[in-house]
Amino acid sequence: MCPRPDSNAAPASAVQPLVAASAHALPPDAPSAPAPDPDLRQRRIRSYVLRAGRTTQGQARALRELGARFLLPYRAEPLDLVQTFGRAAPVVLEIGFGMGEATAHIAALMPATHFLCCEVHEPGIGALLKRIGEQGLSNIRICAHDAVEVLDHMLAPASLAGVHIFFPDPWHKTRHHKRRLIQPPLVARLAQRLVPGGYIHCATDWQPYAEQMLEVLRAEPLLRNRAPDGGYAPRPPYRPLTKFENRGVRLGHGVWDLVFERGE
Ligand SMILES: C[S@@+](CC[C@H](N)C(=O)[O-])C[C@H]1O[C@@H](n2cnc3c(N)ncnc32)[C@H](O)[C@@H]1O
Repeated sequence: MCPRPDSNAAPASAVQPLVAASAHALPPDAPSAPAPDPDLRQRRIRSYVLRAGRTTQGQARALRELGARFLLPYRAEPLDLVQTFGRAAPVVLEIGFGMGEATAHIAALMPATHFLCCEVHEPGIGALLKRIGEQGLSNIRICAHDAVEVLDHMLAPASLAGVHIFFPDPWHKTRHHKRRLIQPPLVARLAQRLVPGGYIHCATDWQPYAEQMLEVLRAEPLLRNRAPDGGYAPRPPYRPLTKFENRGVRLGHGVWDLVFERGE
């Protein structure tokens, strides 16, 4: 479900870099510099690498024309969500929206909900801005920054109605599993940002990651599984089958949804 390189590409220089240098990660196989303390080393583990990708002319135009209105700068200070969106409404955080196909679909379905969407892949950010323009959406704000830092520094406890994490990078190799988003410390922090009754919805097409998600979400004391049998959930109707997922389904690949909510 990752964004694919685009063919109709604008020169990279057409777009100012959006993602701060601090968000950049080393390639997974790059030799790591000696880290004096383990906490420092821990902070360097990111759930993404910044992939090369070309921004199309349309995406570049959307960035120029709509960026000022819909891009939210990262600041390591609490965010006023009412001021950000211009009115009070439930807020859903999306981590890693890729090219924004599902994001725009869901935002159009739920105009009374606000969507705070984090992504670090610049063509994807341009692609979602383009969809926002084409569909006239006003309930999305994009933070072009590491969602983990946004969560830690900008979002207050009990501020979110929901969290969407669709097809997070599976990091197949065992030595990269530490980069997976769905791990106990992050899930604990996400759960703490939810209002009671608020939900976390994850989806993946990689079964071993689905199993890890189920184990981690089940083990978080603040959360309970919305699936009646305590396992995987049926795909909630708001989550569309994207083009990429449709192709996988046609090839017989599985997809697993997990929906947990904060109990108290
Ligand atoms: C496999 S793609 C899935 C994209 C999309 N959700 C979909 O279903 O097609 C995962 C995306 O998550 C983004 N990502 C991973 N970790 C992130 C983080 N910590 N903050 C923001 N975006 C992140 C990556 O850049 C990538 O675009």
